[in-house]
Amino acid sequence: MKTIKDMKTFETTTSELLIVGVRKNSNLIKGWDQFISFFGNSIEEWIREGDIQTDQKKLTKIPVKTSNSNVKRILFVGLGDRKKLTEQLLRETFGLVGKELKKLKANSFSIWLESFTAAPIDENDIAFLSAEGIGMGYYTIPNYKTTSNEPDTTIETVEFVTEADIDEVVSSFNVGKVYADSVNEARSLVNRPPNLLTAPDLADYAVQLAEQYGFEVEILNKAELEELGMGGILAVNQGSSIEPRMITLKYQAKETFENVVGLVGKGVTYDTGGYSIKPKTGMVGMKGDMGGAAAVLGAMRIVGELRPDQNVVAVIGATDNMISSDAMKPDDVITTYSGKTVEVLNSDAEGRLVLADAVTYAKQHGANYLIDVATLTGGVITALGYDKTGALSNNEAFFDAFIEASIETGEFVWGMPLTESDKKRIRKSDVADLNNSPGSDGHMIFGGGFVGEFVENTPWIHLDIAGTSDAKSAHDLGPKGGTGVMVRTLATLVERFEDLQKERNSF
Ligand code: BES
Ligand code: ZN
Ligand code: ZN
Repeated sequence: MKTIKDMKTFETTTSELLIVGVRKNSNLIKGWDQFISFFGNSIEEWIREGDIQTDQKKLTKIPVKTSNSNVKRILFVGLGDRKKLTEQLLRETFGLVGKELKKLKANSFSIWLESFTAAPIDENDIAFLSAEGIGMGYYTIPNYKTTSNEPDTTIETVEFVTEADIDEVVSSFNVGKVYADSVNEARSLVNRPPNLLTAPDLADYAVQLAEQYGFEVEILNKAELEELGMGGILAVNQGSSIEPRMITLKYQAKETFENVVGLVGKGVTYDTGGYSIKPKTGMVGMKGDMGGAAAVLGAMRIVGELRPDQNVVAVIGATDNMISSDAMKPDDVITTYSGKTVEVLNSDAEGRLVLADAVTYAKQHGANYLIDVATLTGGVITALGYDKTGALSNNEAFFDAFIEASIETGEFVWGMPLTESDKKRIRKSDVADLNNSPGSDGHMIFGGGFVGEFVENTPWIHLDIAGTSDAKSAHDLGPKGGTGVMVRTLATLVERFEDLQKERNSF
């Protein structure tokens, strides 16, 4: 999407398609009379008659004829009640607009910003939200069909009809676009078939990002992991003919690498369950078990583009979880990178073993704050469904800051308790320090709590995205499949980290 950087009016816009927000009492919009007199009184009549719908998320497309404008069609976007308008509602509505634009194969459009504003949501916010929503809504899953008569469409030009400062509007739009593009890249990683996205492939993608954005990058291969004694990720990889990778990206914004946010992702490129094998219906979709890694990489892409003044280190443990005569078995005892030993009770509880080593490594690389993101448990789906990410934390203020970022992005996160008795059960084993599967009751907490054992006293947030990473059906902001969940919240947290810290007298 390119944006045209000078102010447009209904008369000067070059696009044939104009996008206009309508709601109850649209006549209160600044410039409405001018709009009506430009495009004709019948618009008001159609609104009155309900032919142009003002209800939330209702879209109406009408042809227009004017002699003094290029506009040939107006896409009216129903916004409902002005007082009930929220940023998230606008974001989702723009998602639907994005889907409509794709259907129309529209490659250019102009948007009348003032028709969408409602205090405190101003023109810059609308520019941001429209880029984010339209960008995400427009997304299509890459496919491998040999016969396709669907030509690829992309949005080439965007223009703004507005009275606001055009430079500010364009820069807000471009930030929204970076957010959407990065979410879409994360989605494509999740959607990629597992034979085409192995751990080495994921590492290659990270190296590419690093080259593009000047991150420091380190990729550890199997021999190096063995040398370091990363027994967690190696145990999971044991049954695989494909090598594991421990991926580290560093973004240094400050002179000294202090006050570092650590993002840790589960990158299980396929989870068969191992010897604790998944039922055949539970296995399909496990290509998405690297959703945490995708979220971290998507957030790093935003960091690379927007270059916030905040140090970040990202660590991703990448491997598949396969079966062979060499594979890890239930009853095995393994030694993690931290030195802690684990009794494996269930080879399908593999993510926490990978994360154990990744978290320890992130701390070694200077992370002072840790957020791990993982498609970790079916338990979180039982507890919270498919629309809420489950969380654990050991630090109230840090968690509160994270929730503030998540409210801004509209990504739902819900904190769960981690009690001493939960920890006791994670530490219960006759033969090792920990066990990887204390039980099926409330087991989202055991999964995250296990990772917490390796975090120790570092302020930490655990995000279980097993329910939210892969949509079962199409939604306002995108199609079925990878959602790119947490990309935007992680990036927002990083961008605003110092402010959030100051507001809370540090954490
Ligand atoms: N990758 C799965 C979790 C998962 C489930 C992700 C559904 C996405 C959708 C994870 O590795 C797993 O298998 N977890 C087990 C844990 C159990 C063995 C303690 C689970 O949730 O059943
Ligand atoms: Zn598993
Ligand atoms: Zn898994």
